[in-house]
Amino acid sequence: MEIIIQHDVERASELAAKVMAKQLRDKPTSVLGFATGRTPLQMYRELIRLHREEGLSFAQASSFNLDEYIGLEPTHEQSYRYFMNTELFEHIDIDLERTRLPLGNAEHPRQECLNYEAAIRAAGGIDLQVLGLGSNGHIGFNEPTGSLNSRTWVKILSENTIKDNSVLFEDPEEVPRHCITMGVGTIMEADQILVLAFGHKKAKAVADMVEGAVTAMCPASALQFHRRVIVIIDDEAAARLDNADHYRWIDSHKLPWQRYD
Ligand code: F6R
Repeated sequence: MEIIIQHDVERASELAAKVMAKQLRDKPTSVLGFATGRTPLQMYRELIRLHREEGLSFAQASSFNLDEYIGLEPTHEQSYRYFMNTELFEHIDIDLERTRLPLGNAEHPRQECLNYEAAIRAAGGIDLQVLGLGSNGHIGFNEPTGSLNSRTWVKILSENTIKDNSVLFEDPEEVPRHCITMGVGTIMEADQILVLAFGHKKAKAVADMVEGAVTAMCPASALQFHRRVIVIIDDEAAARLDNADHYRWIDSHKLPWQRYD
């Protein structure tokens, strides 16, 4: 894993946007994997700025999102489709037809999971997948003890995740209990993975992911087996890493071509 610690969310998000922009410039037809939640919001704003002010184009790109709540229409304000449209897609030049999220209102959710896997394969796989990190170590909606080899599947949200996500709903009771999420195995097939985590609430999950044992109790720890993972975190999220000084040392001695900034 390549661990990059930035002082604050703003600098971390700018760097993350540079990683995505480099991917797009190197391969304009990239298949991008997006995440929702609070963590990538500032990176999306920076991508919008890069599009408007520096000509970054998504016109040839396509995308897949990690997950979607079951039972919400795509027009529902808390659906992840609505989130992606309003926070990113409507502000850049990506072709909406080439953006995919699992269909949370599919009549047959399990068939939708198979369709989603097939669509990722048909697109040639994901070039760069963005991940946020749950405070319990989840990636996508793959909660602790779920298979580390899972494919896109229907999952029941843990109480911890429902509580974390309830701040985005007017009534916590409205948070759906089920979702469709890429599996850990699906995520692991992305060519490159960019994990973002900010704030002290993520510090334990970051330490477990980077320095802990690989265990289904922390699904993100499976990423230790991936060839190309970049982890961009802020000082607060890095607070429980034993080797933070080592990661900073490595980062400050990179050769110019190894840097993203
Ligand atoms: C979102 C997703 C989740 C979030 C995670 C962190 O598509 O799959 O794994 O990335 O729950 O959420 P935030 O960023 O809101 O702290």
